[in-house]
Amino acid sequence: MALTLRGLEVCLVVVLLSIFGGIQGEEESVITLDHSNFTDFVSKHDFIFVEFYAPGCGFCKTLAPEYEKAASILKKNDPPITLAKFDAFEAVNKPIARLYKVSGFPTLKILNNGGKNVQDEYNGPRKADDLVKYVQKQLGPASVEIKSTNDAASVIDLAKSFIVGVFPEFSGEEYENFTKLAEKLRNAYDFGHTLDAKILPRGDLSVKGPLIILFKPFDDLFADFKDFDITAMEKFIVKEDDPSVTVFNMDDPGNPYISRFFSDRNLNTKVTMILNFASDNAATLKSKFYDIAHILKGGKISFLLSDLEPNNERLLKFFKLDGSLVPLIYIQGNGGKKYLKANVEDDQVVPWFKKFMDGKIEEFIKSEHIPQENNEPVKVVVLKNLQDMVFNSGKEVLLEFYAPWCGHCKKLAPILDEVALSYQNDPNVLIAKFDATANDVPSDKFGKVASYPTMYFISSNKEMIKYTEGRTKEEIINFIQKHRHDDEKEMDEPVSLTDEL
Ligand SMILES: *[C@@H]1O[C@H](CO)[C@@H](O)[C@H](O)[C@H]1NC(C)=O
Ligand SMILES: *[C@@H]1O[C@H](CO)[C@@H](O)[C@H](O)[C@H]1NC(C)=O
Repeated sequence: MALTLRGLEVCLVVVLLSIFGGIQGEEESVITLDHSNFTDFVSKHDFIFVEFYAPGCGFCKTLAPEYEKAASILKKNDPPITLAKFDAFEAVNKPIARLYKVSGFPTLKILNNGGKNVQDEYNGPRKADDLVKYVQKQLGPASVEIKSTNDAASVIDLAKSFIVGVFPEFSGEEYENFTKLAEKLRNAYDFGHTLDAKILPRGDLSVKGPLIILFKPFDDLFADFKDFDITAMEKFIVKEDDPSVTVFNMDDPGNPYISRFFSDRNLNTKVTMILNFASDNAATLKSKFYDIAHILKGGKISFLLSDLEPNNERLLKFFKLDGSLVPLIYIQGNGGKKYLKANVEDDQVVPWFKKFMDGKIEEFIKSEHIPQENNEPVKVVVLKNLQDMVFNSGKEVLLEFYAPWCGHCKKLAPILDEVALSYQNDPNVLIAKFDATANDVPSDKFGKVASYPTMYFISSNKEMIKYTEGRTKEEIINFIQKHRHDDEKEMDEPVSLTDEL
């Protein structure tokens, strides 16, 4: 009896497994490749889209269902397009990943001509639709012909920039130059060409061409140009496709204008206004901000505008600013200096900005107030007293840079307390902590503090050593004893240590 029941159980498990297996086994559209078959498979394809991923990477996991969906759509394309994935983290696969210059995950690249041509990495949004559009666009011509008003409406997305060449005929040097440029910039911009300017949106242009029109979703909404020298055209496009004010939006990670603002290619001065778009004076503040941006457009200065909403809070955090300061104008100067106008009022925007341009605004230094009491074993250092407490104190200082939210810092805190207690009778040693989210870390001294906790030992003769030893009380004390510069170096362990024994 028992045996039969067992048999039944096994049976059920088998049934369940096969149902589960049935769902799981539904054929994947994404092709899996590894070191054993990558080169062979790629060499047999003229066009293949590859995701180089790492199994543990969060962005890769988010991408997976979208990528699969895109693959299932694109394999029905005419001709079918193959999407493949390659675990670039697996040791045996790494040589191939290196060959394709994979440096982050996921890396998405189109390989053409049996893998001989490798296109630039795809950096756009990662929803299935976006991926499909991107891939299809790579297959087609770099510039599409616009024959009718309907064509124009379906091809030109007025929410983005779009470049149209108007020609009396599709031949001649102007047309050829335009086509070459479209090919060169196909990943960055959308291009079209037409014989009839009248079918284009925004205006009844009766021009015959040759003429280039750039449609854009901001400022003057379009601009035109008549020089068909390739370099000149490219310059025109880059210059015109540059909004005087970029609107920040955390939900739009692929937005090219936002990444351009932060990527700092031109070492611009960057001006950000953060305000609550729902507040009464939002419209006035915004329009003053736009006024300034329009006047200064073209100079080495860029403008970003952001609504104070929960999703955008990362922007405040990034600038180490607090929501209570909003509405605010924050300026990152090209020399690394910062300037802040907090709680800015309508009639202060323009005058404050004029003062800034005249060099009359004092640099903004982010520091907490110097604490009135500092009685805990580990002393609190803020930017305002960093010089006095650390560099000019003549002490042997162990300084921890921490963030209140950091788990490793919380673990380290009681250990640092113990270390500090061990030295409580040694006036020459100071154990201190510095909240790096509430105070600027002077990069001239400490470089970029990229992770927490980061600890530095600054000896009484101002020698600085980054602490990279273990995080136990003993290891820290040993380190201090080894590196302290004063006479105590030769002495025994600190008193309280021996007390414990
Ligand atoms: C490549 O090899 C892996 C591992 O053997 C396999 O899972 C995968 O299906 C193969 N891909 C192709 C296209 O043959
Ligand atoms: C086409 O481009 C080349 C190279 O930029 C330039 O020398 C030539 O003058 C251009 N032709 C026209 C008609 O602008």
